[in-house]
Amino acid sequence: MEKKENIKKDIFVKLSSIKNLPVMPDLAIDLMGYTIDDDTSIKELSAIISRDPALAAQILKVANSSFYALKRQVGSLEKAIIILGLREIKNLIFTLSIIKLFPKETNFCFDKVDFLKHSLITARTSDILTKKLQLKFEVSPFLAGLLHDIGKIFLDQNFHHEYNAIIEEAKKYNKNIFEVESSELGTDHAYIGSHIANVWNFPQELIDAIKFHHCIDKSNDNILLICVISISNLLSNLRNNWLVFPKYEVDFFDLTEWKILERNKMIEDFDIEKIIFEIDDEFKKSEDIANLYKGNYL
Ligand SMILES: [Fe+2]
Ligand SMILES: [Fe+2]
Repeated sequence: MEKKENIKKDIFVKLSSIKNLPVMPDLAIDLMGYTIDDDTSIKELSAIISRDPALAAQILKVANSSFYALKRQVGSLEKAIIILGLREIKNLIFTLSIIKLFPKETNFCFDKVDFLKHSLITARTSDILTKKLQLKFEVSPFLAGLLHDIGKIFLDQNFHHEYNAIIEEAKKYNKNIFEVESSELGTDHAYIGSHIANVWNFPQELIDAIKFHHCIDKSNDNILLICVISISNLLSNLRNNWLVFPKYEVDFFDLTEWKILERNKMIEDFDIEKIIFEIDDEFKKSEDIANLYKGNYL
């Protein structure tokens, strides 16, 4: 008990010092509230991206990769934005920004590519689910999905030894990691992630989506985005099986999250099975995108 209290105290001491937290690039923060839909915006966006030449070069590299199968190589940012589309570019910038948060040359308790894959699949699924259900959020559901497990990076980097033990315990005894974290640390990656998002001055909607993605019943506000992130996380787990214990079949159709979404539905045809079936097509694409980053940026 005392050990748990001590480690909880240590976690909050580390969290309270900004130097221990990952730094979100300014560009991603600027882009968060930026909606764009015409030609002038393309110019504006490319001017913003050009502030970070390394990022601009990476965007061109990704745009010219075989994944997008462009007929001709793209040489300018403006062309890349026109071809890939504003939404894709914005999501690409968020993804590259998150990859920047991964410290290089350190041992992780988990596979970095698997982490990225899980985050990316959750992000893309959140984006697609939002579109399919015709929901509107103030924040990017893609960014919320991408960051939902950011607390795991903090734990890995600052409490590597302890976090390794937590993962091992979950594996060995087939327990849920979130629950092992709570019982061993007195806190969990979702709470820690929400604290980091708060320090980054992110909107409350995004903070809540991170904080409650494993415990929707504890939330009061911003419930629809939490539902989207929670369902996308579970779908991503079902597909990717990354650090998922115990290995059980989730009764997916019976989730509280679906019931809440259905109660607030914006579309007539709210058929869960059909929605999942359509999203499934996108999984392969998300995995391909994650593989694209492998070797290049990780
Ligand atoms: Fe999580
Ligand atoms: Fe997750």
